[in-house]
Amino acid sequence: MGTLVDYFSRSLNDPEHFWGEAAEAVHWYRRWDRVLDDSDQPWYRWFSGAQVNTCYNALDLHIEQGRGDQLAVIYDSPLTGQQRHYTYSELRNEVADFAGALAAKGVVKGDRVVIYMPMVPETAIAMLACARLGAVHSVVFGGFAANELAVRIDDATPRVIVSAACGIEPGRVVEYKPLLDGAIALSSHKPESCIILQRPQKRAELTTGRDFDWEDSVAAASPHECVPVAATDPLYILYTSGTTGEPKGVVRDNGGHIVALKWTMKNVYNVEPGQVYWAASDLGWVVGHSYIVYAPLFNGNTTIIYEGKPVGTPDAGAFWRVIAEHGVEVLFTAPTAFRAIKKEDPEGKLLGQYDLSQFKALFLAGERTDSDTLNWAQKKLGVPVLDHWWQTETGWAICSNCMGIEPLPIKEGSPTKPVPGWDLRVVDDQSEEVPAGEIGSLVVKLPLPPGTFPELWHARQRHFDAYLSEFPGFYKTADAGYIDEDGYVFVMSRTDDIINVAGHRLSTGAMEEILAAHPDVAECAVTGVANELKGQVPLGLLVLNAGCERDHDIIISETIQQVREQIGPVAAFKQALIIDRLPKTRSGKILRGTIQKIADGMGWKMPATIEDPAILDEIAAALQQAGYLKNG
Ligand code: COA
Ligand code: AMP
Repeated sequence: MGTLVDYFSRSLNDPEHFWGEAAEAVHWYRRWDRVLDDSDQPWYRWFSGAQVNTCYNALDLHIEQGRGDQLAVIYDSPLTGQQRHYTYSELRNEVADFAGALAAKGVVKGDRVVIYMPMVPETAIAMLACARLGAVHSVVFGGFAANELAVRIDDATPRVIVSAACGIEPGRVVEYKPLLDGAIALSSHKPESCIILQRPQKRAELTTGRDFDWEDSVAAASPHECVPVAATDPLYILYTSGTTGEPKGVVRDNGGHIVALKWTMKNVYNVEPGQVYWAASDLGWVVGHSYIVYAPLFNGNTTIIYEGKPVGTPDAGAFWRVIAEHGVEVLFTAPTAFRAIKKEDPEGKLLGQYDLSQFKALFLAGERTDSDTLNWAQKKLGVPVLDHWWQTETGWAICSNCMGIEPLPIKEGSPTKPVPGWDLRVVDDQSEEVPAGEIGSLVVKLPLPPGTFPELWHARQRHFDAYLSEFPGFYKTADAGYIDEDGYVFVMSRTDDIINVAGHRLSTGAMEEILAAHPDVAECAVTGVANELKGQVPLGLLVLNAGCERDHDIIISETIQQVREQIGPVAAFKQALIIDRLPKTRSGKILRGTIQKIADGMGWKMPATIEDPAILDEIAAALQQAGYLKNG
């Protein structure tokens, strides 16, 4: 108990005591030797010496404590017209059976299992089954293409891949199996076996000797018990965009992850065990890992796996229908989902058809919540709308309004204040703190709290270079922003080439690598430009090889197709423009930030270091002509 200030100062002044206390809510086979192990700085470990099992804490513990008949998961799929309900006991049994199936394929503690699946309960079952065995799962989002899957297979080197015959997007069935086969053909590492979930919408041909049917595998297996693992052992690897085409494998451990996520359910989201909590995201993203599967289950909640969209399945009332039908008390999604709903139903007329009386809070993350969306949602829903800021790397919110500790007044554009555990600072290039209100790099003083990322998978040097080297003693978030006089944090932009498209994190560098490989392209630049629905979308500028006389429209559509084939439809790369030359500094650096400002119709200053100022006018004219200039 106490005020936010009490919690906050205890968490920073005595983290061992603070998190040690939170750890009492977790089941341990063996307690820790040290809450915080700082013997290998700047790499820290939480709960070293302890033995634990994530799946036990998510499922078995609740059954022992009398929640066996409570719903653990509701699968609601407007895309297939199906619903399924799993109590904690039913889910535990399915998970134990599937763990047995994985074990029968040779999966043991420490092995990796790649999961490439749509939004079905079997995806969560596969994740929890890995956790039960102490195996390390790596879920790959279904909107990624074969090439991206192959890169992840080569990095994670899984013994087994779990996949499905297909995913369902509005108006089309996405066949996963050809993508999986393509990825395995491309990768150097080959899995020993694949377990494939067949779906009635499209069955897949299985490759004899390698592929096994999910149902047959489960039928032949016997249920597997939880395997104790070290608290510091990896639970999962989740790949996220880095600044190059090579994604970063963010590792999550077992012990600190259970402690921190369970703690957030009450303290950040103000959710009690037994309540229905819904994160409308995808299991392939960090929000899906933390808040569709793990945190709500650690906390004894009912979680929802929703296979649908905010609009079009069947209409902009879809979210209200799910909230009303299943008694959701807290919803977590990305602002882009609300922009989509607001665009279709600006008056919020569909809200009137549903009883949302038990709904009490909306949390948004993935991108900054713009004022329009915040005000609209607040007005229509009549509940607090809470922006909170986090990253794949952090696994849970760095900044949030902590509704279970002490709700604070909401300030538009701010995810409120650092959550206990996060020593957030704003610094200049020399790591010096800047005064309130001044923009700088947002960094977190080490150690990061439990539940964050101890390392990048097999890439210690990259971890150090990307996050720890620039501001010694701090974690670099790669976000820029400021903290105001009242201590509210404002996250303004990334400091690298990551863009945020419909809440999905994408690397413009990865797109540039693909565009540059096109035989007619001499040089290119990709920037994220403002988009009303998705927040940002990528825009490619292409300079062709001298003497290239091919039709420009054909070249553009080829590059668009290549990005779709190599990264996947999720890249949403649909706009490209051919220009004569790119704006550069005298040292040859492409001025992507300036291109973005021009395209967004924002005020921009002529960079002092520009090689040839006339290029910027040429680009503005080309963007205007192509209809890409906002406000132009
Ligand atoms: N498997 C295969 N393809 C997928 C996919 C999946 N799991 N998820 C998305 N795609 C495809 C889409 O069909 C689309 O393809 P298209 O170019 O052929 O139309 C493309 O990837 C881009 O998807 P997206 O950026 O999501 O756009 P959209 O137009 O389909 O939907 C929103 C827009 C706003 C409705 C949607 O992004 C959304 O609901 N977002 C909010 C929730 C969320 O997931 N947030 C993530 C972090 S919290
Ligand atoms: P991801 O790793 O996909 O979760 O993306 C993390 C990035 O998304 C952050 O570094 C931010 O740039 C952005 N982001 C996420 N949530 C917010 C938010 N609430 N406000 C501003 N930016 C956000």
